[in-house]
Formats: sequence, structure tokens, C-alpha cells
Amino acid sequence: MNWTDKYRPKHLKDVIGNSEAKEELIRWAKSWQKGISEKKAVILYGKPGTGKTSSVYALANDFNWEIIELNASDERNREILRKIVLAGAVNETLGIDGKYVSSKEGAKRLIVLDEADNLYEKEGDFGGKRTIVEIIRITKQPIILIANDYYELTKGGGTELKKLCKSIAFKKVDEMEIVSILKKICRAENIETDERVLYHIAHRCDGDVRSAINDLQSISYNKRITIDMLSNIGRREREKEIFTGLRNIFRALDLKTAIKEARQIDESPDNLILWIDENLPLEYKNADDLTRAYKFLSKSDVFLGRVHRRQYYGLWSYASELMSGGVAVSKRHSYREFTKYNFPEWLLRMSKSREYRQIKLQIAKKFSSIMHCSKRKVLEILPIIKYLFLKDDFAILLTSKLNLTQTELEFMIGDRAKKILEQAEEIKKMDKQALLFDFE
Ligand SMILES: Nc1ncnc2c1ncn2[C@@H]1O[C@H](COP(=O)(O)OP(=O)(O)OP(=O)(O)O)[C@@H](O)[C@H]1O
Ligand SMILES: [Mg+2]
Repeated sequence: MNWTDKYRPKHLKDVIGNSEAKEELIRWAKSWQKGISEKKAVILYGKPGTGKTSSVYALANDFNWEIIELNASDERNREILRKIVLAGAVNETLGIDGKYVSSKEGAKRLIVLDEADNLYEKEGDFGGKRTIVEIIRITKQPIILIANDYYELTKGGGTELKKLCKSIAFKKVDEMEIVSILKKICRAENIETDERVLYHIAHRCDGDVRSAINDLQSISYNKRITIDMLSNIGRREREKEIFTGLRNIFRALDLKTAIKEARQIDESPDNLILWIDENLPLEYKNADDLTRAYKFLSKSDVFLGRVHRRQYYGLWSYASELMSGGVAVSKRHSYREFTKYNFPEWLLRMSKSREYRQIKLQIAKKFSSIMHCSKRKVLEILPIIKYLFLKDDFAILLTSKLNLTQTELEFMIGDRAKKILEQAEEIKKMDKQALLFDFE
């Protein structure tokens, strides 16, 4: 279990830092309870991982309020949201379980709209912000909007929101307070620890409690934390940096930006291409976009091959520009959904050894035999074949047809190799049996 969930504060008094903001929340909730609240809604905003969501749930818990959580980013929710809230607001007494609760007895329902900065507006329809404004005007229940970006939420049609809501800011949490919560968790988990590590974690998380707790958990696998484990956190951090860079490359709208991003990542093109290769199909959902992008990756790979054969590192920049800029301009669609990227563990391990190119050649040989084309041609479209291998059926069929080995298959599909190989063996067995009955 994630420690951030396990140690999520249940009461406001357990939320560390931001004491003023918490006081304000309590004052506002009390005024609702007395029925004299001047502002019906609160905008709670600030940096990630500082306890905004936790505080709202803790507040409801402390006041014994029921919570209705609405999801702002989901468009389908918006109509439902209107219905629930209007019904709830006007009838005020109908609980979500259908039972009647009298708000005179103080049994409020707290309406929470988390990640409210994702509300976007479309002209002419009941776009997010306008709906919320309307709801706040008529609600008889307390509402809290939570956001990271106050400006994003209150610009445009949001100016009205600004007027209607009480704004409360959550600031970065103080380093010393973070150290104290880390110590508490170590005690609870029976972990022996070098305090210097805790200070270090608290310092580098820059006021983000969530990431501090995650860092702590990531190095606590054997109940003992020593100073040399800090380098592990460094690696994780590096991974995060690369993911951010990848996202910027994939989403860049022009060549220049993408190329600049690739430079900033500061990985050798040999490695960077593996990261891009691994994560491209997760980001580009449209097949034409993908095909175009993979063509650029192939070209880039050709340059990388030449770099190695001729030891001419001047070609690196071409490779790098093709894999970043080329990929970025391949898309005709925009991809805005959050994508969770993979770490190309296996590929990175392989790429360090000479085996990597060897395996690639073996695969090319096998494919060229059934595709009636040169190995060189196969190498060029290998990324596209890899993409096709994302489909289990296709992968199983070709694995059995070409007798791909586990290593070769791992090269194509990473960790899925084992499963696919087993199924391919099954098919081979069946084919053999079928041959026995084939008298033609
Ligand atoms: N102030 C805090 N006190 C105690 N624990 C905290 C605090 N802030 C964050 N945490 C820990 O981090 C986890 C995530 O916090 P939370 O979801 O409240 O952050 P948030 O401010 O809503 O972040 P985001 O802006 O990303 O939604 C909590 O479950 C808890 O374990
Ligand atoms: Mg949150």
C-alpha cells in the first residue's frame, strides 16, 4: 500500500503546515453550520502535495459532513453535476443514499470539486465555470473548489467565481515539519534511519509532502535507511525529469521546440531513442500519426548505426533531431490526456551490451525471409513491426511462425515476451498435431 494513502491525515489537526489556511477553513465551516456564511464556496489552491484534498476530507470528517465529490475534468459529469447539485441544492434534504437529512440539524453535504482548474469553457454552452457559478448562487450546501492554478480557474468566465468564493491559499510546507512527519512514519513502520537522509528528502521535495513520503517509501524496502541510499532517490528524480522531457517532445507543436527539449534531456541519443520508442505508442493514439513518427525514428536509428560503425559522433545531432523534431511534427492530432510513461528497463540494459545490435540483425534476418525483402528494409520498418506486436494475436502468430527466441521477443515487446512465447508454443504444438492429419 502507498504510504501516502496509509498516512493520509484523517483530521485537520493531523495535516501539517498551513495553520492559517486551516483556521480559515474551520471558520468558514463553522459559519455554515450557524447558517451565517457570507461566502458559500471556497477556492482552495496551491502547490501539489501540500494537503489540499486531504484537508477538505479531514474538514468534512471533523464536522461530520457527508461529501459529494464531483469530477471536473470529465465532460459527461457536467450534466450529472448540474442535476445532482440542483436537486441537492433546492431540495436540500435529499441525501445521496435517498434518505432525508435535515440541514437544520447541521447535517451538511459538502460538495467538492477537485482539480477544478481543469474546467474549461466553451462559448455558448453550459461550460464548466458558468455551471459552477450558477450552482454556487443557488446552493444551500457548502462547496469547495480545489485547484493548483488559481489564475487558470479565475480567468475568463472565472472572474465571477473569484467574486463569489472565499479564496484560501495553501503554501509549501515547511522543511522541519516534513522531517517530523517522515520521522513519525519511520517509527510507525519500524524503520531504522539515518536522520540526515530525512533532512535531505525534506529539503529536495520543495514543500511537497506527498513526494517526500513517496521518496521515503521508495528507499525503505529493507527497514533500514542509510545515507548511500540517497543516490536511489536521485535516479528516480532523473526518471521524472526524462518523463517530463518526453512529454514536451511528444506534445511540441514545432520542430524547434522539440529539438530544444531533446537537448535539455541530456541523455545520449542512443538512450533517448529507447525512451521515445518505448513510450511513443502510449502517447500517439492515432495510427497514421504513429506510422509517420516511427518512420522518423527509423531514420534516426540509421544515423545512430552509422555513428557506431564509423565512430563519427558528428552524426549524433542529426539522429537527435530526427527522433525529437521528426516525431513531434508527425502528429496531426493533439494528445492532452495524461499518459503514464514506461521506463525502458530491459532496453536500457540491453543497449549497453553489444548484443543489442546483434539481436536486431537476427530479427531482421527472420523477418526478411517471410517478407521477401532485404534485412536493411526490415530494420527500417522494425519500429512499425514492433508497434504491430502490441497486439497479442499478431505477436503470438508471428512468434510461432518465425520461431522467435525469448531474447528476440523481449527486444520486440519487453516484459510481455514470456506470456506471448508460451502461447506461441501452444500454437506450434497444435500445428504439429494438425500435420498428422494432413494427407494432401
Ligand atoms: N499537509 C500535509 N500533512 C500531512 N500529510 C500530507 C500533507 N500534504 C500531503 N500529505 C500527504 O500527501 C498525500 C497527498 O496529499 P493531498 O492529496 O492532500 O495533496 P494535494 O494538495 O491535494 O495535492 P494535488 O494538488 O496534487 O491534488 C496525502 O495522502 C498525505 O499522505
Ligand atoms: Mg488534491
